[in-house]
Amino acid sequence: MSEISMKERLDAIVCKAMDNMQKVTTLDALNEIRVGVLGKKGELKEVMKGMKDVAPEDRPKVGQLVNEARDRIEARLAEVKAEIEAAQLEMRLAEETIDVTLPAKKAEIGHRHPNTIALEELERIFVGMGYEVIEGPEVEYDEYNFTKLNIPANHPAKDEQDTFYINKEIVLRTQTSPVQARRMEQGNLPIRMISPGRVFRSDEVDATHSPSFHQVEGLVIDKNITFADLKGTLETFAKEIFGPETKTKFRPHHFPFTEPSAEMDVSCFKCGGTGCRFCKGEGWIEILGCGMVHPHVLEMCGIDPEEYVGFAFGVGLERIALLKYEIDDMRLLYENDARFLKQF
Ligand code: DAH
Repeated sequence: MSEISMKERLDAIVCKAMDNMQKVTTLDALNEIRVGVLGKKGELKEVMKGMKDVAPEDRPKVGQLVNEARDRIEARLAEVKAEIEAAQLEMRLAEETIDVTLPAKKAEIGHRHPNTIALEELERIFVGMGYEVIEGPEVEYDEYNFTKLNIPANHPAKDEQDTFYINKEIVLRTQTSPVQARRMEQGNLPIRMISPGRVFRSDEVDATHSPSFHQVEGLVIDKNITFADLKGTLETFAKEIFGPETKTKFRPHHFPFTEPSAEMDVSCFKCGGTGCRFCKGEGWIEILGCGMVHPHVLEMCGIDPEEYVGFAFGVGLERIALLKYEIDDMRLLYENDARFLKQF
């Protein structure tokens, strides 16, 4: 093959490649052209194969022509590649225009529930007085929920109207008090504990009732504990949670697992005790149940009542949250409406 016809063949290849490159709009299509001309089985390689038919003296010249053709095609490939990339960037920028005057999309971060805030406050107060925080099971034996707490078989609380029974022996706990019995059985005295958790009662939902709510149980067992310790502790708690002006009042009451038992009222932190709508004109608000642990309960839980005494108390967590944040309907606590929750 002569130098002239080689040159014609190369010109034809370059021409066709240039033509094709004129039409492409994507990088993939451009790459196909590159492979078709410069690749291992490309058109230029085919031309190189024909070198053996070229007269030896013409070979350097033809080799140079092939190199020139390759250089021209490569240069154009690079140009077209840059053009396509620029066009694509242009398109993306046009598509992705950002209106900086639009209000930003805020990442919504969660918010602590009023119950959680009240619980953390309560835990802070008691942990500060040296109490441990422990948890007990929500599905509980009848024996722990009732029997070991001195609650007799015919007690009205055991009525199916009030208690959710799983079977004859297992209930959804109606109070956190069974954690007292579980802790006392472990021994390891003295005890200073609080135990927060969910409790269940077969109640209809209304502004002050829910079939599932939360309590915080408290228990202290040691030698020489008196009712004065109970009063001092719960007074301190009331002042911490409702403010230093808060006064407390203990009214005699009955709980099967404490003797004597009492309910503690706090002076209304809204009117200071003179009587208002918030405290229904009473000046006082009932806040918790408490008492000295019944000797029979100590005995049933393996503690010698001649040596050890103690006091216990039970607080409704929702009650604290509702009072502290002046929420007038318990149902709001369970609806998870962010507009409500965000206020606390
Ligand atoms: N468990 C009682 C209830 O649910 C509250 C209570 C009262 C707990 C007196 C106590 C206590 O530990 O001493 O009504």
